[in-house]
Amino acid sequence: MELSKQQIADYHRDGFIVIPNCYSSEEVQALRNDTERLCAIKADSIFRESSGAVRSIFRVHETDGPVASPQYRALSRTPRLLRPVMQTLGSEEVYIAHTKVNTKSALEGTGWLWHQDFGYWVHDGYPENDMLTAMVMLSDTQEIHGSLYMIPGSHKLGLIDHYYDDSQAAYQLPQRAVQRDRIKKILETSGAPVPIVGKAGTLVLFHCLTIHGSGVNMSAENRWQAYLTYNRVANRPHDVEKPRGDFVRSTNWAPLPMERDDGILPAGQRQQQREVSVQGK
Ligand code: SIN
Ligand code: MN
Repeated sequence: MELSKQQIADYHRDGFIVIPNCYSSEEVQALRNDTERLCAIKADSIFRESSGAVRSIFRVHETDGPVASPQYRALSRTPRLLRPVMQTLGSEEVYIAHTKVNTKSALEGTGWLWHQDFGYWVHDGYPENDMLTAMVMLSDTQEIHGSLYMIPGSHKLGLIDHYYDDSQAAYQLPQRAVQRDRIKKILETSGAPVPIVGKAGTLVLFHCLTIHGSGVNMSAENRWQAYLTYNRVANRPHDVEKPRGDFVRSTNWAPLPMERDDGILPAGQRQQQREVSVQGK
């Protein structure tokens, strides 16, 4: 899939674009099946709400590690997603800086304070702050599910100071967030925040400086979304003191090959066959 000139212009104007109907219900189901499997695993790269519900599963795209997922690996390399990523990043040589699946559980899933993703990544050593995230909806998402909200055009504000907020007792890790006074001023003068809603299979691309956040899931349905963050190989991070773990700051910056656009379903079938043979032993 190629983005049109208009879509690329929209991305650069708003800091995000929403592309409905990118992945079929069968592909979404294959990703959901593997998410069910991953939720039952115990691993350091899985973070939970204080209720115990899984909140985020990091590093699903590699072939090694406890939460390696062939389906998510295939998703991360589908030309449907990778071509638009290359077009918006302006480079054919890109790698995955990290991946996570946010499983915002029915009634238990809590929110994310207003932030820029680069507010988290600023100390990771990236020369330029032009990375982006591709988000794929794995469940139908309305505002009641705790959808993302994005402030259109906010990437043009540049990097804003973030602080560590540990008031969100629900989450195991402190969040990075824009100071309340600053975000209040931005909200008073910006365009209205846009709820990022849509059907499962919708693809969203957003800039690492676009201010976004989300609320709690007040519905009886889980809000599952995959986040795949891409970087230009030329923008790989330089060495920093005490680098964060590979699950958030990947050092695998080999350029991604363009793979089959129909790779998710076969990956799911192979996974199922493996499970059957393990159970049969
Ligand atoms: C994020 O900003 O990293 C995730 C927000 C969400 O899943 O609601
Ligand atoms: Mn974010």
